[in-house]
Amino acid sequence: MPQFKKLYIGTNTKMYKTIAETESFLIHLDALTADLSREELLLFVIPSFTTLDRARKCVSKQSVMLGAQNMCWEERGQYTGEISPLMLKETGTELVEIGHSERRHVFGETDEMENKKVLCALEYDLRVLLCIGETAEQKRLGLSDEVLRTQLKVGLYMVPNDKAESLIIAYEPVWAIGVSGVPASAEYVAEKHGVIRAELMELFGEEAAKKIPILHGGSVNNENAVELIKLPDVDGLFIGRSAWEAENFNKIIRACLEFKGT
Ligand code: PGA
Repeated sequence: MPQFKKLYIGTNTKMYKTIAETESFLIHLDALTADLSREELLLFVIPSFTTLDRARKCVSKQSVMLGAQNMCWEERGQYTGEISPLMLKETGTELVEIGHSERRHVFGETDEMENKKVLCALEYDLRVLLCIGETAEQKRLGLSDEVLRTQLKVGLYMVPNDKAESLIIAYEPVWAIGVSGVPASAEYVAEKHGVIRAELMELFGEEAAKKIPILHGGSVNNENAVELIKLPDVDGLFIGRSAWEAENFNKIIRACLEFKGT
């Protein structure tokens, strides 16, 4: 059950939408959700780098927060192929996603790298969406809690307490993500979000930890969204495939807000 006034709901469009597709998605989503109070909803979209500049011109900061899917930990330098926080700020981007499962498992990013990115993003006043989650193998071996705690301990190493408000955590079990993903059961989600909240309290103390929303992701869809949002320590949802069509995304958002209002 979300403890925040706002429900956090967002999507990462991965490497799917072109500039034109992102623009039309955002314009459509913005129109469909125009009547929803942003006092109760923090809606965010994380499209590909090349779309960010034009995306920012399509929707206002009040209605949709825009994020980048990755970032380098340096402002400038000999880092061919990377995008720096300075470059993101130039486009009006407010959020950066760090450590998505595909960054970790396809591109070999480590917790140490995620930590450098987190610290650098915070220095540039970007909000950070740190993604964590265990693999199927780690789950099978009973290592899930240790893995989640390690990803938080290392990923958030040296983050000062007064920056806690700029953090958002997305818990996405690797085995639940994508076309071959199996959604986690409500029981499992509740348990792991509890583990994450406890670790955040250990790292930042109770007051600061309470300011960090924990979102759930990995095969979130129309069938399980409301059930997930009811769970303790689930403050929002981070959705892939089910959000990439504006009408369906709007349906999920409304169903969750309806539950929250009841
Ligand atoms: P999915 O993706 O909802 O399509 O499983 C989630 C994610 O990768 O963040």
